[in-house]
Amino acid sequence: MTPATCWRRPPSNVVTEPTSTTTWIGTSWKMTKTLAEARAYARVLAGVGWAPRVQPFVIPPATAIATVAEVLPPDGAVLVGAQDAHWEDEGAWTGEVSVPQVKDAGARLLEIGHSERRAHFAETDERVNLKVHAALRHGLLPLVCVGETAQQRAAGAALDTVTAQVTAALAGVPATPQVLLAYEPVWAIGEHGTPATPEQVGDVVAAIASVAGPARPVLYGGSVSLDNARGLLDLPGVAGLFVGRAAWDVEGFLALADVAAQPAPQAPGGPYS
Ligand code: 13P
Repeated sequence: MTPATCWRRPPSNVVTEPTSTTTWIGTSWKMTKTLAEARAYARVLAGVGWAPRVQPFVIPPATAIATVAEVLPPDGAVLVGAQDAHWEDEGAWTGEVSVPQVKDAGARLLEIGHSERRAHFAETDERVNLKVHAALRHGLLPLVCVGETAQQRAAGAALDTVTAQVTAALAGVPATPQVLLAYEPVWAIGEHGTPATPEQVGDVVAAIASVAGPARPVLYGGSVSLDNARGLLDLPGVAGLFVGRAAWDVEGFLALADVAAQPAPQAPGGPYS
């Protein structure tokens, strides 16, 4: 497809210092894509001139980080990430990869604590915290995922659960380093997820910001689609979207990036109505 649309500018634009108006739009490919598929997707992104306020990122499986980073280099507009990494720099940890290794492969961002890792791979709050420190130690941008289960929400414990996860993740982390948070309610993620309504998201995002600090961007993830992206982005405190399935095709990613690039519609009664 031709990615160029009128709002985009040449790919020379690199957002290195996100501002409070930066809108993040990113995807984790989870356990999908061959090297050829990863390369083809990355080549399309490399040809895009991103809107000034949009910060795109893509998180391939570990096997494809280097391939994607060859196409989307560290000084480019699109941040390349890793889906996980061990908290130790090296050692006898069969099957694991370390932060220095994913950095060497080209990752600039590290996803930590996704609910699929918490549920299936014994990712505890303590390990999440160790990984945040490891990422910061090596100059990677941590993207910490938090979210409550359906049972926790039904019990009225959504806010407590999520704020406890954020507090644990950031323990011992000074106020200054940039850390991204993603609110991803477990019940909203994946094929069997139920899309969250803006009402369900707003309070939790505000609670995350109150714990993490106002300078730390809070993204939303979980069944994001073209149908709900605008409503979620318009919520106060939502600094971007973290997308799975709807962005696994590059056309889907670009369509969502288009939404992220548009300013919020003017509220009725505003100065231009
Ligand atoms: P889906 O968008 O497929 O629900 O996945 C979201 C997610 O887990 C992003 O980390």
